[in-house]
Amino acid sequence: MKISIIGTGYVGLVCGACLAKKGHDVICVDSQREIADRINNSEAVIFEPYLSEYIGEAVAEGRLLATTDIEYGVASSEISIVCVDTPYKNGSIDLNNVEKAVRDIGRILRIKNPYHVICIKSTVIPSATDTLVKNILEEESGKKAGEFGLVMNPEFLREGEAVTDFMNPNRIVIGAYDDRSYEHFKMVYEGYFETPLLRVSLRTAELIKYASNSLLAMLISYSNEIAAISEAIGGLDAEEVLYGVTLDKRISPQIDGKFIRPEIVKYLKSGRGYGGSCFPKDLRALIAFTESLGYAPKLLRATAEINEMQVGKITDRLEKELNGLEGKKILVLGLAFKQNSDDIRESPAIRLVKLLSEKEAVIYAADPMATEKARKALEGYRGICFLEGYKKTAISFDAAVLMTPWQEYLDFLNEGSSASLKTALLFDGCRALDKYKFNGSGIKYMGVGIS
Ligand code: UDX
Repeated sequence: MKISIIGTGYVGLVCGACLAKKGHDVICVDSQREIADRINNSEAVIFEPYLSEYIGEAVAEGRLLATTDIEYGVASSEISIVCVDTPYKNGSIDLNNVEKAVRDIGRILRIKNPYHVICIKSTVIPSATDTLVKNILEEESGKKAGEFGLVMNPEFLREGEAVTDFMNPNRIVIGAYDDRSYEHFKMVYEGYFETPLLRVSLRTAELIKYASNSLLAMLISYSNEIAAISEAIGGLDAEEVLYGVTLDKRISPQIDGKFIRPEIVKYLKSGRGYGGSCFPKDLRALIAFTESLGYAPKLLRATAEINEMQVGKITDRLEKELNGLEGKKILVLGLAFKQNSDDIRESPAIRLVKLLSEKEAVIYAADPMATEKARKALEGYRGICFLEGYKKTAISFDAAVLMTPWQEYLDFLNEGSSASLKTALLFDGCRALDKYKFNGSGIKYMGVGIS
């Protein structure tokens, strides 16, 4: 099929490269000339495993082309997939980019006669596609919905695993305006992916995306609530409690005496809380939207509130343990919001560095990939030194805090590296370390969920 992708940020570029890899003819449209040029030169623009290989191959074989000319992109394709970003601004989701993209597409549809399907892949609040998007398309094209197709097809891509997630989806949700939209759009996937398609209404597809992210965020906040309760009781470890919870056969079934551990169990883990470009933004957007409808979403609010408190609780515990933070040398291991990513958006580690700086600690920060972005985000904050060689430094730290569970940090710390890491205290903000390794090492081990 001939497909245009409108907006080649994170989602658009992964989607375009993967659909081209599956054999479709893809035109990526981006308003920035530099981005389009770089894609045409086979550059990935963002870091994501396998992405540059896929782009290089598809560009070389003529199945992927980037342009700034939306008219060309839409006119030369049968389907346009809108992947522009939808930031959270001033208390609600900002749909300006979606509106603009859809307005441009609508204008082109006025003079394009063959049937065309518009797909919204950007995360939008439920009802946006069948009201705002539909109305703009009808207004600009002079046609009625039905004469053009309309679908909502949410993405469930995890950063660092986006290409693998796209190529091996566990679900493909298609919200369709009518049968014709669905029949036409499903050809993007049918025959190319083995996953069954879930056909729903436009609004259902929109809410599936939010409800999915809310559930995962809620599991993290639930785990952090159990951690807070465990800390208050004392003499127990929340991670052992949560492990016991997950052995329920309804969560981890047994086959031949062995537990099957579903991936969702990874989110039943205490730590410094969630971050990134999706969970915090999606939760806030859904809360604000639901409140505007007159419903108070108590569970979602509590999920967000617990998450917002997590980093402050780590700072408080360090402050208490070290008798104040002023002048204390603290090593922060990890700045990205999660491992295998250079993304620092809403990263709990960046929040921790800011709080420590406000308390006048001396911060030594390290990350295998995210230091350049962190340096910019932390401009103006005092007392921060970015450390390359954390393994061999001669500095004696008052505390080291693990904030992102990069494998190299786990390998280093789980070696029981008391000899090379001179720190009095190790705070495990991810609960990713073997706490017993530090017995007798001279390093005091502390972590979320153990008091
Ligand atoms: C998420 C969803 O997983 C994806 O389906 C959606 O489309 C986009 O949002 P992503 O933000 O890339 O993807 O990351 P994910 O791996 O799900 O982690 C989200 C947050 O939860 C991160 O801050 C991560 O560190 C945190 N997390 C994850 C935990 O705190 N504990 C875990 O065990 C797993």
